[in-house]
Amino acid sequence: MADTGTVRTGPDFRSDNTGAAHPKVLEALIAANRDTATSYGLDDWSKRVQERFAELFERRVRVWPVATGTSANALALAASAPSHGAIYCADIAHVHTSETNAAGFFSGGARLMLMPATHGRFSAETLEQTIAAAGVGLSHRSQPATVTLTQATDLGVVWTPDEVRAVSAVAKRHKLTVHMDGARLANALARLGCTPAEITWKAGVDILSFGMTKNGGMLCDAIVVFDEAVAPALNFHLRRAGQIWSKGRFASAQLLAYVEDGLWLELARRSNALAARIDAGLRGAPGVRLAAPVEINEVFVNAAPELLDALERDGIRYSRRARDYARFVTRCDGTEAEIAQLLAAFARHAAHA
Ligand SMILES: Cc1ncc(COP(=O)(O)O)c(C=O)c1O
Repeated sequence: MADTGTVRTGPDFRSDNTGAAHPKVLEALIAANRDTATSYGLDDWSKRVQERFAELFERRVRVWPVATGTSANALALAASAPSHGAIYCADIAHVHTSETNAAGFFSGGARLMLMPATHGRFSAETLEQTIAAAGVGLSHRSQPATVTLTQATDLGVVWTPDEVRAVSAVAKRHKLTVHMDGARLANALARLGCTPAEITWKAGVDILSFGMTKNGGMLCDAIVVFDEAVAPALNFHLRRAGQIWSKGRFASAQLLAYVEDGLWLELARRSNALAARIDAGLRGAPGVRLAAPVEINEVFVNAAPELLDALERDGIRYSRRARDYARFVTRCDGTEAEIAQLLAAFARHAAHA
């Protein structure tokens, strides 16, 4: 990436949200900044997004750009679950831990139901058992409506197409909508090596939160609808939530640049590769244990508090989740030098911790 002028004060592993927007995304914005264009998603860029994403997903889709991953999730879920509905998710899912129950709010009352999960993945059997105990038809209970899975999970682990398909099969049997929170879809695809179609609608996903911001985007994610039945309701939810962009061309220009010539996957491969370097470098390090397999651009580590304190003193920035637990996220604009500094600091302090 070109130098964006951002001041770097030290290795930064706090989040993939801390990185720069890719220059091609910015160039696309400048290029779109000319003439007049029809507003509210009827401009040429927005029309092209529908076509481009149809190619990408190998079928007709409806795409709505939105401002954030939370709005994508909340409005996708609101469109798929009635106010008395139950939305099933993993116990550590971002929709539950970090979105202020936006799905419940925008749906007018639907309830998130947590399921036990390993590294954020739950099994088809768990979903089956949970629905069996849901009290279908009982007016006292929220009624099964939607299941949402996070790709990759909040512990950085991917769902394979077979795993998604197994969960979807249970969902379909019980007439549930299947939603995927793809805040890190590109990283998951880079890991899996399958097509966007194979990990989404071909595996039973009806509606997708398509992440871009974390992977070189600027100010835009999107909702991608595969199940036409969800689309009409979504339009109203989006408008009511203030998520129908008037100058839609600028949102769509970002999305077009992001997927052009496979940029999104190239960027994801880059951040995944940097995390793999940390994974390899920390294996066998004394006093350090990986809390989850490293499959995308996130590394979760259990380590002695003194060791984590020492990294902070060295100016290494990361997300301290507990005294002995931390998350290190690599970015698509991250550098080998940052990784080398991190691993050297670990090596320096691990022996004494
Ligand atoms: C898995 C997952 N889903 C959704 C989001 C929400 O994105 P935003 O912060 O843009 O609302 C995040 C952000 O961290 C996330 O990690």
